[in-house]
Parts: sequence; C-alpha cells; structure tokens
Amino acid sequence: MGKVISVINQKGGVGKTTSAINIGASLAVAERQVLVVDFDPQGNATSGLGLDASSPPEKTIYQALVGECSLAEAIRETELPGLSVAVADRNLSGAEVELVGAIAREQKLRSILAPLRDKYHYILIDCPPSLGLLTINALTASDSYLVPMQCEYFSLEGLSQLVSTAGLIRGALNPSLELEGILLTMFDARNNLAHQVADEVRAHFGEKLFKTMIPRNVRLSEAPSHGKPILLYDIESRGAIAYLTVAKEIIENNMQRRAVDASATLV
Ligand SMILES: Nc1ncnc2c1ncn2[C@@H]1O[C@H](COP(=O)(O)OP(=O)(O)OP(=O)(O)O)[C@@H](O)[C@H]1O
Ligand SMILES: [Mg+2]
Repeated sequence: MGKVISVINQKGGVGKTTSAINIGASLAVAERQVLVVDFDPQGNATSGLGLDASSPPEKTIYQALVGECSLAEAIRETELPGLSVAVADRNLSGAEVELVGAIAREQKLRSILAPLRDKYHYILIDCPPSLGLLTINALTASDSYLVPMQCEYFSLEGLSQLVSTAGLIRGALNPSLELEGILLTMFDARNNLAHQVADEVRAHFGEKLFKTMIPRNVRLSEAPSHGKPILLYDIESRGAIAYLTVAKEIIENNMQRRAVDASATLV
C-alpha cells in the first residue's frame, strides 16, 4: 500500500509546491510510482508539471471531492514516466465552503484516495498555505507530513503551530499521523540567521530534520514556467541534486521504519 505524505506549511511561498513536484519527480526516477495531488486552488503543482486543469477531460480534484467524478478521472500523466498528478484549479476553493455541511467532511480526501492507494508507492499532497478544511482533509488522509520551511525568524513560531495542529488531527481524526520530516528550503549558507534557525530546528526535532537542505537555486524557480520538474529542466543543477538526495532520504527512512515494524511484529 502506498505511503501518503502531505507537504504542508501554513506560511505561503516556502517551497511546498516546489518540494512536492521535485520530490515526486525524484521518487519517480527511482522507479517508484508517484501521484502528486494538487490540493491548492492556486493549481501551481498542476501548471508546474505542464498541465492545464481546464483542458479536456476537465475533471479536477474539486469534482472528485464533491462526488461528481472519481479521483482516477482527475489524474493525468506527466512528461516524466511514473509521475502522475491529480489536477486542481481555482474551483477547489469552493470545496472549502461546500464541504462545511457535509457528513465526515474531514475525511473526504481520505475516502476518495482509498481505492488508489495500491496503485502508487508514494502519494504527495501539495497543500494550500492555510490550516483550513483542505489542509485538515490532507492531514486526515496522510500517513505522514513533510514541512518545507525557510530559515527565517518567524518560521519557528509557524512550525510549532503546525505541529500542534497535526497533534490535534492525530488525537481526533488520524491516530497514525507521523512527522515525515522538516525540510529547509531556499537555504543560503552565507546567511548567519539561516544557520541559527537550522540549529534551533535540529535541537528541537533532531533526526526529523532532513540532512539535505535545499539551496536557493535559480534553476528551481525557472523550471515551473517550463512546466517541468527540475530533473527534466536542468538535471545538473544544485537544486536537482538536492531534491534527488531528499528522495533518497525518504526512501531510506521508510525502509528503516518498515524494518522496525517487521521486527516489532516478530517479538
Ligand atoms: N530552492 C529554491 N530556490 C529558488 N527559488 C525557489 C526555491 N524553492 C522555491 N522557489 C521559488 O519560490 C517561490 C515559492 O515557492 P513555492 O511555490 O514552491 O512555495 P509554496 O509554499 O508552494 O507557495 P504557496 O504557499 O503560495 O503555495 C516560487 O516562485 C518558487 O519557484
Ligand atoms: Mg504552493
């Protein structure tokens, strides 16, 4: 059964979509079947992967959420073999309002994903920059959450708010939700504050901080306008190499966790 990971941070512009696209692409080149779920009405993961939600068949995750189609109908192949995306556009913002009165409104994404979980090794959900109903749906549907963050002073406050929200979801809706890891993005090694923030995150979260940091890299910011993940745009860039290394960390962490689970079952 595939692992579902929410890529989440309520702060805007911290590298969620860039991380979802490029971790997804890196896992796909490691021969994993990967689905990126664009769960943001901005539709950046959709366009960043070269797709247009308004082109036929025009089915999007919004229609899947409100029961007008299956999630499979909203999924398109990307240029990269093994990487698919469930597309979104601005209509998704309507779901935030329309689902309010629905029964089990927090579990809609979980239930539409369920029939597809065997088809993919990894499902990455690109969340919007808020802790609203869409993000709650994403966390309820996930095995873990991955937090991209920029090394700025206020990032730490946002991070503790996010971790406590995840704790509430774990208590009320999804007891098995884990922290996949914290990923430092747009890292500038010449900036002292960046090192201080990184040290502080490491002190609080230890092993949960990815060893790999994503450097600020102009090629990463150019790739979406070409509708390509960085691996198809500039495979030799520092950004491409960093995301490949993060994907390797994710695969290794999951192999380790599975080994621990297996030995626990034997005891
Ligand atoms: N490592 C990087 N180096 C340089 N630019 C980057 C890097 N990561 C992301 N960017 C750029 O920063 C901007 C914000 O990134 P991105 O869209 O991934 O953030 P986000 O958290 O998904 O934003 P939102 O909250 O609006 O969804 C984009 O223009 C992106 O191209
Ligand atoms: Mg985004």
